[in-house]
Amino acid sequence: MPSLALDPDWVAELRRALLAWFETHKRLTPWRDSPDPYRVWVSEVMLQQTQTATVIPYFERFIARFPTVQALAEAPLEEVLRYWEGLGYYARARNLHKAAQQIVRNGGQVPSTPDRLRELPGVGAYTAGAIASIAFGQPAPVVDGNVTRVLARLLWLKGDLKTTAAQRSLWQIAEQLIDPVRPGDFNQALMELGSTVCTPTQPRCGACPVSRLCEAYRRGQPTAVPEPRRCPPARAVADVSAIIEREGRYLLAQRAPEGLWGGLWEFPRATRIAHESLEAVAERAARQVGVHAIPQRALTLVRHTVTYSRVHLCGYLCAWQAGEAQAGTYQATAWATLDEIAQYPLSAPQRKLAVALLNASNADRSRNGLWTQLSLSFRDEAE
Ligand code: ADE
Repeated sequence: MPSLALDPDWVAELRRALLAWFETHKRLTPWRDSPDPYRVWVSEVMLQQTQTATVIPYFERFIARFPTVQALAEAPLEEVLRYWEGLGYYARARNLHKAAQQIVRNGGQVPSTPDRLRELPGVGAYTAGAIASIAFGQPAPVVDGNVTRVLARLLWLKGDLKTTAAQRSLWQIAEQLIDPVRPGDFNQALMELGSTVCTPTQPRCGACPVSRLCEAYRRGQPTAVPEPRRCPPARAVADVSAIIEREGRYLLAQRAPEGLWGGLWEFPRATRIAHESLEAVAERAARQVGVHAIPQRALTLVRHTVTYSRVHLCGYLCAWQAGEAQAGTYQATAWATLDEIAQYPLSAPQRKLAVALLNASNADRSRNGLWTQLSLSFRDEAE
């Protein structure tokens, strides 16, 4: 994408119209009530992959428990993860915790410039720009998915906008556009326009404060840009978690610190190989943690999506037979009662298994027939 020389009158009108719109249309969120740097930082990290409406209750609980960067730095990581549970992308919580400790070691103040902010774990160009502009009034641009879409439409930017070269151009454009007097509001207005008006498939151009400045609108093709990237087709994966019981306790295993659901706990889990029975996968999942267990019945089936994969996760009840638990590819293992399981940070699908286990433990044994049915339907779907 060639670098663009933007017309100063067009830029001035864009700033004016966007800021006026933001004044009257901005969503009332708890981090906007009092934009101190710590609150802005926590909110921006939560907003990285999660929608505003979902973030609000998590933010309120998080800030009530960890009201300052010091409180966050002193808290055990397990508790921070517990407050993050359900938001997903747990590396964000681990990085936030690590960064809080780094800030406290360096005097307790959240850094104010994009360069210094980027020294914190989990703070990339986007989050650094958001914090510097919103909390410190610095003219630092932000480009996220919403801003990319708005700019692509305003300026009719064709082609793949995810490439390094295209991203570099987008950052340069955002830098030219940012309002020097109200950079934080300007950035938030662009992002907010993208999430509430200039949406991916059905933009509400009639409600857009800058439609008269928009090239995609002028051409009558607001959704023609940005052009979609080709995604790999969704794959269906079947996983089984062995819910192994030994004298009223269940075996949990803690995932490695990095990667998907890093540091969270789960019922030992294995992925089904073609035509393998669920019982065989459950046994294999148990052996992974050093335990010989007899699979008894399918407890429940949970569907979820990981990146491009649709995953069918079956919780399979198993009875412990022999073997002391070993971590294997996990970090640690623990035998927990039903009450104790509630205290462990689990991923959302694993929490569903835990809830099903709790319900089943209260349920009548005559429901066995139902579990068998569930197991059979899972087998059909997983083929
Ligand atoms: N998306 C991410 N951060 C945002 C913010 N501060 N305002 C609006 N949308 C956002």
